[in-house]
This record gives sequence, C-alpha cells and structure tokens, in this order.
Amino acid sequence: MAMAGSGVFGDLLEGEVYKYYSDGEWRKSSSGKSVAIINPTTRKPQYKVQACTQEEVNKVIDASKVAQKAWAKTPLWKRAELLHRAAVLLKEHKAPIAECLVKEIAKPAKDAVTEVVRSGDLVSYCAEEGVRILGAGKFLVSDSFPGNDRNKLCLASKVPLGVILAIPPFNYPVNLAVSKIAPALIAGNSIVLKPPTQGAVAALHMVHCFHLAGFPKGLISCVTGKGSEIGDFLTMHPGVNCISFTGGDTGIAISKKAGMIPLQMELGGKDACLILEDADIDLAAANVVKGGFSYSGQRCTAVKVVLVMESVADALVEKVNSKVAKMTVGPPEDNCDITPVVTESSANFIEGLVMDAKQKGAKFCQEYRREGNLIWPLLLDHVRADMRLAWEEPFGPVLPVIRITTVEEGIHHCNASNFGLQGCVFTKDINKAMMISDAMETGTVQINSAPARGPDHFPFQGLRDSGIGSQGITNSIEMMTKVKSTVINLPTPSFTMG
Ligand code: G3H
Repeated sequence: MAMAGSGVFGDLLEGEVYKYYSDGEWRKSSSGKSVAIINPTTRKPQYKVQACTQEEVNKVIDASKVAQKAWAKTPLWKRAELLHRAAVLLKEHKAPIAECLVKEIAKPAKDAVTEVVRSGDLVSYCAEEGVRILGAGKFLVSDSFPGNDRNKLCLASKVPLGVILAIPPFNYPVNLAVSKIAPALIAGNSIVLKPPTQGAVAALHMVHCFHLAGFPKGLISCVTGKGSEIGDFLTMHPGVNCISFTGGDTGIAISKKAGMIPLQMELGGKDACLILEDADIDLAAANVVKGGFSYSGQRCTAVKVVLVMESVADALVEKVNSKVAKMTVGPPEDNCDITPVVTESSANFIEGLVMDAKQKGAKFCQEYRREGNLIWPLLLDHVRADMRLAWEEPFGPVLPVIRITTVEEGIHHCNASNFGLQGCVFTKDINKAMMISDAMETGTVQINSAPARGPDHFPFQGLRDSGIGSQGITNSIEMMTKVKSTVINLPTPSFTMG
C-alpha cells in the first residue's frame, strides 16, 4: 500500500523536507529553512515543510494570475472533467493522505479516511453543481422599470473573481481545503493554498492528486511556511482577489487588513444544545456525546454548551456520563474516541478553562485527567455564566452544562454569545422547535440533532464573530464569482407589428 511521501507521492519529498507546489512543480524554498510539524501524540517532530519566502509568494501569485486567464476560457465541461478526475484520485489515495492526518493532527484513523472520501465526494458534487449553475445566466428587459421602453436587453452571467487565496484550518486540512479549491476552480478561478502548519503535509498530498489529474501549470499553488513571514503578506497581497478562510480569531484580523475583496470567513462557534422538558433524552444524550466529543471537541460545530431544563437535567447528565465512561481514550492509530488535542498550547488553554470552572465551583462529573496533549473527556455540570467555559470555546473534550428554568433563558444565553454559528434544540414539539429556531440568532439551527456542517451542499454560515459569507457547495460557487452584464441597446422606434 502507498505510504505518505513515497510511490506516486515521491516527488513531494526531498531528504526529510516536503516541497511546496508552484507553477506545476514541486520545489524547495530558496530560504533553505523549514518548519517542523509536531505529532500531537508523540509530541516529537513528525514532518518538515518548506519555509517559503515573500519572493516565492510573489512568483506564485504571478503564475496564478496568468493561469487563471486561460482557465476562465476553458470550457466549463472540461473544468468539470478535471475535477472529477481529481476526485477519483483523492479517493484512490485516501490511505496515505489519511496517514498524514493521523500523524499531524491526531485524527482517529477511521475519521481521517472519512475526511478524504468526503473530500472526493465534495469535489465531484462541485463539478456537477458548477456545470448547472454556471451554465445559466439571466436575461432582463428594460420596460419593467418605470420610464423605460422595451429597447434594452441585459444578459447577465457569472464570471470568475481571479486569484482565490484559500486558508483552511488544522481540523480539516483536506476537506476544508477542497471546499474552497473545488468551487473556485469550477468557477474559473485560480487557487493559492496556504495550509495550516499542522495538516500541511496532508494538504500537500491532496494537492498532488490535483497535479496528477492534469490541471494546467500555475492554476493551483500551495505555499507553506511561517505565518509571521508570509501570513500578512499573502492576505494583503494586491494580486489576491478573494480570501476564503476557516479558523480562529486570525480571521477577524485578516478581515480588517484585507483590501476591497470578497471574504468568506468561518471563525468558530460556541454552539448551544438546548434540551427541553419534552425532549427524547436518549436521543439528546447521544447527540450531546457525539456533538461534544467527536474529534475530541475540535470542530467549530461541536456542541460547546448544553443548556438543559432543570427538570430533565439529572436524567440527561446521568445518560451522558454513562456514555462518556465507555469512551476510549488514546492514540489516533487505535481509533480511540478521544485522541490528543493538536498542540500543547491548546491543551494548556483547555486546562485554563477547566481550572477557572473548578475555582468557581462547577461540578466535575469525571476527574480531570491530562497526559501531554491527551485530555480525558470531561462533563462539567452546574456551570454558571461567570465561568469562562460558559462563553469561550475550549476546542477540546470538555463540555459545560448550564441548567436553565425557562426556554427564554436558554435562547438568551445563546444570543448573548459572541459566536453565532449553529445551535440545536431537542423537543418533540415541532411548533416550539420552529419558534426557537426563529429566535436563535445563529447561521443554522438543527432540530433534534447535533450541529454539523454537512451534507456539504447545505448552506453553512455564522453570525457575529463566527464569520461572514455563506459556504456550502452552491453558495461557495456563487460567492467565488461576480456578475457580468452585457446590455444590448436597440434603436427606437422598433418595428411596428401588424
Ligand atoms: O470545524 C469546522 C468545520 O466546518 C466543522 O465541520 O461539522 O463537518 O465537523 P463538521
């Protein structure tokens, strides 16, 4: 079986440093420097990637501009054909890509494979959706607006934006990269990818699948390196025509510095799970566990606070605890439910939130336990609004429960958050659920299920500090285009009829 950095992926690696991808070739940076990627489980260096320079970024963007002009003129069906080919290659090479995800971000092995397969499906769907929505435009006539005759005909179609800068996060370095790359490409744009450091090697392998699919030189580039050297340089680069970013607070800084270009930003969440008195408690408990602890809570859509009606709180907490007790904790290679969090600083941050809750009197349902980056799953009951955990996202396997006495209290907590990504409500009363959905100020409300981004063609968006713009396949394709109109002005008077 092919391994990372070998077989068809052999070109990516020279010595022990992975190369970056520019103008259709794998290259070494002239900096002579590299960035080490620490394996979250062993806490030892696992891989190294090139520390690209600003000059190399300039070259990438120049090549990207040239390639985009030709690509925009490539027939839509041909663009789709190449994307379908890339999707097949991604799935064919799921094992070595998943291997990188396991080593770089400690994603459980099975979930790592799922991420790659999901990415292939996303790319195919994008190709299919693109040929349909980009193949149609609008035709308008002037006489519907007061004062106009029927002498102006407007043909409006969608044209590409140009060079798209894609910056995915560590938790889905492949899937949240292709969710930007595929819509950009089908719409006739070029792509400059800056992967997260943890996850960069998985992303480089994914990019190689696009290389093998035969996309034109320069159309896709992937630069790696230090944020301090090339981060601002990329996001403020005059050659970039759109930024699609998923990650944390850095996105807020980027949106303040970026020029007058479209931004698609997804910056995290504090998704609330509101559990009413009439909820199916078994269903709610199963979703609290899945939503709160899958990939050790390192998902922007994770359940990050449980708001449960006091009358059913004991029953819910008991059921959640019995499920938590059965969770396996350990290395991602063993497919454990809970694996080490991505970095030591993340683990320290999570620990800070736990200690704050301890000091302020939260009830620990399990003993707090940590070894290196591995934190055992922890449910904290009786959390109050003065505790940091009530508002901040741990991005780890730690879940606060706030007991409420009215539904309004729950909605108020949800809407008072800086974040507004998703929320969920558990009740058997669909009317109540709809009214709560209406009142919850979040991009999405799930009824009787934990928050989630997928299926990947669903709209996905956050309010307030959770971001701007809407994602999901269709919305991303639309967002990565602009409208171009051609107006045909007919002479007046026109032919008289009859
Ligand atoms: O971390 C942010 C992702 O968009 C969440 O995606 O709901 O599929 O885990 P997911």
